[in-house]
Amino acid sequence: MAGLFLSFEGIDGSGKSTQARLLAETLRAQGHVVCHTREPGGSTGAEEIRRLVLEGEADRWSSETELLLFTAARRDHLEKTIRPALARGEVVISDRFADSTRIYQGLTRGDLRDTVDQLHALIIGVEPDLTVLIDIDPGLGLSRAVARAGKEMRFEDMGLEVQVKARDGFLALAGAHPARFRVIDGARAPEMVAADVLAAATARL
Ligand code: ADP
Ligand code: TYD
Repeated sequence: MAGLFLSFEGIDGSGKSTQARLLAETLRAQGHVVCHTREPGGSTGAEEIRRLVLEGEADRWSSETELLLFTAARRDHLEKTIRPALARGEVVISDRFADSTRIYQGLTRGDLRDTVDQLHALIIGVEPDLTVLIDIDPGLGLSRAVARAGKEMRFEDMGLEVQVKARDGFLALAGAHPARFRVIDGARAPEMVAADVLAAATARL
């Protein structure tokens, strides 16, 4: 694929969305064509699935059903948004991608890691060129996410324990794939975090 595929990962409230937006703005100002997108969502069909998975009671779906819904959303996002943008040579910045499924459905919500990997190989089959992991203390992340509260609170409602497991899981994943991941300390002023993110992205451009 011709373009560059970047993803942002991290626990809820780590500052991913803020950093994805800042990076998109900076790269556009530098003259790059940027496709700034997000998961779950990023295409019409996937945004419809987003409502199903992020709203409602925490026990609304089993982790198995969630895995299928997130994967269906990702496949649509890939077909309709990511692949076409990469084919046009754009920089794709996705706020979450497959690592979120590895962590949330594979590790913290259930023990589905093997199934997650098999389904990924079967249905998705691509990885970002660079994944920026915004790392933050789970308590700080959860307090930021809860302060921002809206309708999409299903995962935040699962509590601190899920965030702690997710943070450890993301750090382990980054350790296992050092060539793809950059871990950046998110417990600093947004502009300081953004400078490190820009340096990591620029190195791949
Ligand atoms: P995420 O997408 O990881 O859930 P957001 O970017 O939406 O995180 O940030 C969560 C909340 O924390 C928002 O209210 C945002 O304004 C705030 N926030 C983001 N980055 C920082 C930062 N570096 N320092 C303090 N607050 C931040
Ligand atoms: P997101 O909108 O990124 O929330 P936040 O800005 O609070 O980080 O994602 C919402 C939730 O969806 C988040 O708690 C993680 C969860 N999620 C999964 O469980 N699996 C997935 O594959 C994805 C993409 C997200």
